[in-house]
Parts: sequence; structure tokens; C-alpha cells
Amino acid sequence: EKSNVPYDIIGEEQLSELVDVFYSRVSQHPDLAPIFPDDLTETARKQKQFLTQFLGGPPLYTEEHGHPMLRARHLPFTITPVRAEAWLTCMKAAMDDVQLNGELRSFFFERLTQTAHHMVNRPDDEG
Ligand code: HEM
Repeated sequence: EKSNVPYDIIGEEQLSELVDVFYSRVSQHPDLAPIFPDDLTETARKQKQFLTQFLGGPPLYTEEHGHPMLRARHLPFTITPVRAEAWLTCMKAAMDDVQLNGELRSFFFERLTQTAHHMVNRPDDEG
């Protein structure tokens, strides 16, 4: 029987590729690079865990780090509307790179858009 769980559709391998390509774009984006660590290995590892559970897969992030509380975990960083759009632009390009298409892409991107907007904690002029 075919699973309707988004994580089962994308799979571990494509999700992992997506996150790696995404952070290589983040590290080169002028609006994002300044707030991220130089070494994104650990960031990417946590993001793979988080997105696994975000898409209905096993709760890998929570098992290791506790409740995500994503907005609280982002408060130490200045996240302006411009940075949220930059984040989403990198994600869209990463989805192109790994050829994530179709219904899963639109569903996933829509949920990421909502979450990214929820992370905004400063107006643009304070960025
Ligand atoms: C961590 C920026 C949106 C999930 C981080 C970190 C930064 C950041 C600077 C810390 C990296 C580190 O020290 O390793 C941003 C910006 C966003 C954004 C500018 C724009 C809106 C999102 C979204 C999600 C997300 C939409 C989820 C869908 C995470 C996770 C972590 C993280 C899971 C790791 C938290 C931890 O340390 O346990 N983000 N983020 N972020 N972000 Fe974001």
C-alpha cells in the first residue's frame, strides 16, 4: 500500500540532498550568510532531523533536542521580512536543484512559507 505521508514520498535521500543544497545556497546569500555559522554541518544535521518530523516522518529532532519551539530558538537571530524571503528563495532554488516537483513541492513550500513568516522577529529597518 502506498503511503500518503509526505516524508515517505520525498524519502530520506532526497530530503538530505535538499537540505545540503539549501545550506550551500544560504552560505552564499549576502542577507543570510552573516547570521549563520561558517560551518553549517551541525545546522544541516538538525534541519534534516526537523524536516523529517515536519513532513510526518519519525520525530528525530524532538528525540535529540526536545520540543522544537522554533520561534523561540530563532529569537537570538535578527530575522527580518527580507531575511525570511531570502530563506524561501534559497529553498525554492534548492527544490529546483534536486528536482522536487509536483504536489509534494507545493504542499511543502506552502508550509515552509508559513513557518518562515512566523520566524520574523524584527522589522526590515532593524536588520
Ligand atoms: C536554526 C535562521 C527559517 C528551522 C537557525 C539558525 C539560524 C536560522 C541563524 C542557527 C543556525 C546554527 O547556529 O546552527 C533562519 C532564518 C529564517 C529561518 C533567517 C528565515 C525565516 C527557518 C524555518 C525553519 C527553520 C522556516 C523550519 C522549517 C531551523 C532549525 C534550526 C534552525 C530546525 C536548528 C535549531 C537548533 O539549533 O536546534 N535558523 N531560519 N528555520 N532553523 Fe532557521
